[in-house]
Amino acid sequence: MKLVLLGPPGAGKGTQAEQLAAAFQVPRIATGDMLREEVRRGTALGGQASAYMRRGDLVPDDLIVAMVERRLSRGDARQGWVLDGFPRTPKQARALDQVASLDAVLYLEVPEDVVVERLAGRRSCPECQAVYHVSYRPPREEGRCDRCGAALVQREDDREEVVRERVRTYRDRTRPLVAHYASSSLLERVDGTGSVEEVSRRLREALRARRLS
Ligand code: AP5
Repeated sequence: MKLVLLGPPGAGKGTQAEQLAAAFQVPRIATGDMLREEVRRGTALGGQASAYMRRGDLVPDDLIVAMVERRLSRGDARQGWVLDGFPRTPKQARALDQVASLDAVLYLEVPEDVVVERLAGRRSCPECQAVYHVSYRPPREEGRCDRCGAALVQREDDREEVVRERVRTYRDRTRPLVAHYASSSLLERVDGTGSVEEVSRRLREALRARRLS
């Protein structure tokens, strides 16, 4: 199973990708998480990426493509994967087309006001990357990760002015991929509003309609 989740920041890509990856027993490959881990470890790649991420811009294509190609060549990716946050530009999409044959691109459609509200309430675990929302998906104990007990944080790029910039970047540079994948019939438009469970159900239905589950 080779799936791509596409959609604006805060559309729920990470939330849904985690469930799909578990259901299909394939890894979820999230470029945002990978980059944040590089920044946390203080690697050269992290150093190059952090300024772009802090201002809501995209990290340059050559860095991202090399990082994803390395990840896709690992043994656990042989049976498939769910890509979350990649590709994000036409150049990244072309690079992916050259190394993989996709089963579907799931496009989560969510209006901008919903996205901003979701990101304002998001809390993330810096240790295991679990994601919560103060109202829609609260942890059992306030401020603590259910999985590993670490203190939850608000992502630096979830401040409102950076969110607005990420949404603009998405509109200008990533949304054109919708047409790219629609033209190859890989695109499934899925309504990303409503509860996490409702969106999961719509995604499963879309995959069933393609005989992928
Ligand atoms: P990245 O981490 O990929 O950020 P993003 O795409 O902006 O996506 P998010 O993680 O913000 O949102 P999401 O859609 O995963 O939503 P989530 O499930 O968390 O990238 C960060 C940065 O890294 C980029 O800005 C860029 O600089 C760089 N980067 C990454 N990939 C790159 C690439 N390929 N090329 C270049 N640069 C790259 O949900 C959001 C919140 O809503 C959560 O709180 C969640 O609990 C809640 N929620 C989810 N679903 C629902 C629902 N149905 N109802 C209510 N609440 C919900």
